[in-house]
Amino acid sequence: MRTGESICSFSKGHPHAELPGALQDWRGQRVLKNFHKETDMKVIALNSSPRGEGISKTGVLLDALAAGMREAGAEVETIHLRQKKINNCMGCFTCWTKSPGVCIHKDDMTRELFPKWLEADIAVYATPLYHFTVNASMKAFIERTLPVLEPFLLRVDGKTFHPLRQNLNPPRSVVLSVAGFPEPSVFDQLSLYVNSLFGKGLLAEIYRPGAEMLTLPELAKTKKDILEATVQAGREIVQSGSICARGMERITQPIGGDFDSFSAMSNLFWKSCIQEGLTPREFHQRNLIPRPDSIETFMMVMLRGFKPECAAQTKAVIQFTFSGEVEGSCHFRIDNGRIEAKLGALANADLIVESPFGTWMDVTTGKSGGKWLYMRRKYKASGDMSLLPRIRELFGRAD
Ligand SMILES: Cc1cc2nc3c(=O)[nH]c(=O)nc-3n(C[C@H](O)[C@H](O)[C@H](O)COP(=O)(O)O)c2cc1C
Repeated sequence: MRTGESICSFSKGHPHAELPGALQDWRGQRVLKNFHKETDMKVIALNSSPRGEGISKTGVLLDALAAGMREAGAEVETIHLRQKKINNCMGCFTCWTKSPGVCIHKDDMTRELFPKWLEADIAVYATPLYHFTVNASMKAFIERTLPVLEPFLLRVDGKTFHPLRQNLNPPRSVVLSVAGFPEPSVFDQLSLYVNSLFGKGLLAEIYRPGAEMLTLPELAKTKKDILEATVQAGREIVQSGSICARGMERITQPIGGDFDSFSAMSNLFWKSCIQEGLTPREFHQRNLIPRPDSIETFMMVMLRGFKPECAAQTKAVIQFTFSGEVEGSCHFRIDNGRIEAKLGALANADLIVESPFGTWMDVTTGKSGGKWLYMRRKYKASGDMSLLPRIRELFGRAD
């Protein structure tokens, strides 16, 4: 997290956070709300994701944060910006001249959001990362808070800013964002931006890279830990105005293993969407399986589909030897609920499936039935044949 002076010093006194000296100079004459307990605290939680509930990762994290804030006694109102009409700032400066503090637009921002934002003690700006920064709806909201400032130019420590209008008192800020890319540095530009914008009024930044991966079933435990840490972060923000270092570590913990497997699975998913002519949402809704394009991605897809609970009593090695567009072998060692995947053939595999690669990928993705293709001799199997029909049970779709 970086710190910097704000162009506008958006901040309201937090019950447990002292106003820094530079802000006190400007805000010394203000009447700051004096909280006696956290139950007095009002939070406005702004979600700018255009995606609806159940898909938006911004929403998933924001819901967890808001739950924690409520648990700590705050009154939290979540507002979905996608449901609101917020016109773009026209740069007319009417709010600085003819109607000081009042925007010329007559829309949801003027009528509802700006007054609620001013009333709040904390504003949570929750945005998906778009092109390394806040998305357009969030930017429109932020630009439309211009009436809170006065036009005059002031300079402190070599930095120019506009002072806050005397009778308007904006909330302190928490920024929450999610991104598709897995590395934490993807938020560097956003962090720089919000630190410049909110300055010392910025209480916390919560950034979750690789957020799209959180829907993967094998990451359910990691997702649970991230969300529990986010609930805790909500409590801490209300109680102390910051998030502890351990909590931030849990929220930003690495997921998806190394970059190569992260990108291989991600690219496979996108290729499959393109092949099927489906959006990611439609792909998920149809419960489809990404089509492997190499032995390595086949191993990943099989590992993702593995059901340990169905393999509790199983000890076996299942091997696949492929021909045609992709050639080579791999094997899966199942040992009482545990699984290990390796490239190459073994002399003592319990079941060996020999198949053209494309044929078995049809089976893996559910395009063709394994039994039907076996009866038509489209692939061969040898060894313990009782394991062949169990592939579906052990690995999901592949039967
Ligand atoms: C227009 C657009 C731009 C995006 N830009 C970035 C980006 O710069 N970096 C990144 O890691 N992800 C980027 N993403 C991916 C989103 O941040 C990611 O899918 C996020 O989980 C979406 O959040 P949501 O599910 O709450 O809408 C972009 C997505 C879109 C649609």
